[in-house]
Amino acid sequence: MERAAALELVEKYTDKDITFRHLISVEGVMRALAAHLGEDEDRWALAGLFHDLDYDATQENFERHGPQTVEWLRSEGYNDAGVLNAILGHRFEHYRTDAMSRVIVHADAVAGLLVATALVRPEKATGMSVKSVKKKLKEKSFAPGVERDEIRNVEESIDIPMDEFIAVSIAGLQEVAPEIGLA
Ligand SMILES: [Fe+2]
Repeated sequence: MERAAALELVEKYTDKDITFRHLISVEGVMRALAAHLGEDEDRWALAGLFHDLDYDATQENFERHGPQTVEWLRSEGYNDAGVLNAILGHRFEHYRTDAMSRVIVHADAVAGLLVATALVRPEKATGMSVKSVKKKLKEKSFAPGVERDEIRNVEESIDIPMDEFIAVSIAGLQEVAPEIGLA
């Protein structure tokens, strides 16, 4: 699927700016991690972009979070099994069966921390350092919704040292930052 068509689906199925910002940020991080790991950048980016597509629609009905997105994408004629599996994987451990579906869990968490960090910096995502992000990781009261364990455990989970993971993720966010007001 072309990115423009994917963005139209995001437009169609999400309501909130914060959801849009989150989806774009995870897209950027997933693309960078795919490149770093020698994986398919466009497919990993799409998994990131779509992973919370139903987030605004399933707030009252959270058990539908994930499966609803997969249904919508199928109804739109999108059937990439690996991407759909990664979308389910971000929610359910049972689907974490390959690199894309395992990495997305960590991309989701780090993107949340990076966006929150960018929002409190005058330069936003520009010039963000690994050191400053790790400082925010330690500050428990900062962005308390971030699943910090999914950042801390990244080396044992997907075999990328945490500093390297954060550096690649920052670069991924910076690529998309102009689209979400963080450049
Ligand atoms: Fe997410």
